[in-house]
Amino acid sequence: MNIPRHIAIVMDGNGRWAQNQGKKRVKGHEEGAKVVKTITTYCSNHPEIERLTLYAFSTENWKRPRLEVEFLMKLLDDYLKKELPVYLENNVKFEAIGDISAFSKKLQKTIAMVEQKTAHCNGLVQSLALNYGSRDEIVRAAKKLQQQNIEITQESFNDALDASMDVDLLIRTGGDFRLSNFLMWQAAYAELFFIKKLWPDFSTNDLESIIAQFQGIERRFGGLK
Ligand code: IPE
Ligand code: IPE
Ligand code: MG
Repeated sequence: MNIPRHIAIVMDGNGRWAQNQGKKRVKGHEEGAKVVKTITTYCSNHPEIERLTLYAFSTENWKRPRLEVEFLMKLLDDYLKKELPVYLENNVKFEAIGDISAFSKKLQKTIAMVEQKTAHCNGLVQSLALNYGSRDEIVRAAKKLQQQNIEITQESFNDALDASMDVDLLIRTGGDFRLSNFLMWQAAYAELFFIKKLWPDFSTNDLESIIAQFQGIERRFGGLK
C-alpha cells in the first residue's frame, strides 16, 4: 500500500479550542501538546512513515502577546524534557528545523540535548518546526551556499535547507486553507488536506482516514498515468 513517507502537519486551532470552552488560549496549547505525543507515537508504530514534521512555532508567531510566547517556550522546554523517555522507548529521533538561535540559551540547550540523546534512534524522525518559516529557511540556505561557494542547483539547494525531504502528505487542522510559510519548497508535490477540526481534537482516527484518502490519490508528478 502507498503510505506517505513524510507527513507534515500545521497544528492549528489550539487557541480557538480553548476559547470555545471558556478557557484561556494557553490551555489549548497544553492540550495540543498531548496530541503531538499521540500522533507521534502512532506514526512511530508505522514503519513506512519515515518522517513527521510538525509546525510548532512560526517566524511570525513572535507577533503574539508576550505572555503567550513565553508560555509556548516554557511548554516546549517542559515537553521535550518529559518526552525524552517516550522518544527513546519508541525509537524516535528528534530534530528541530528553523532558526533556534532566537530562543533562550536554556531552550536551545534542551533542544540540543534531546537531539543528541535521540541521535542513535533509527525509527521515525519527528521534526519540530521551531521559529520556522519557509522564507527564512530559503534565505539561510542561499546564504550558506554563497558563503561556501557552492554552485546552486536544485539538489545543492535542497540539501542546504533545514528539511531536505519532500513532503508526501501535508495536513492543516483548524479550518483555514493556507500554508502560513510552512515547507513551501518541500511541499511542491505534497497532497494537501485541510480539515476543520481543531488540533486538540485531532485523533489517530482522523489521521488514518486521511491516509486512507491519500492512498486513493493518483500522484502523477507532472507525468501521465
Ligand atoms: C496553533 O494554534 C499553535 C501555534 C501557532 C503555536 P493557534 O494558537 O494558532 O490557535 P488558533 O488558530 O488561534 O485557534
Ligand atoms: C501556523 O498557524 C503556525 C503554527 C501552527 C505553528 P498560525 O495560527 O500562526 O497561522 P495564521 O496566522 O493563521 O496564518
Ligand atoms: Mg492559528
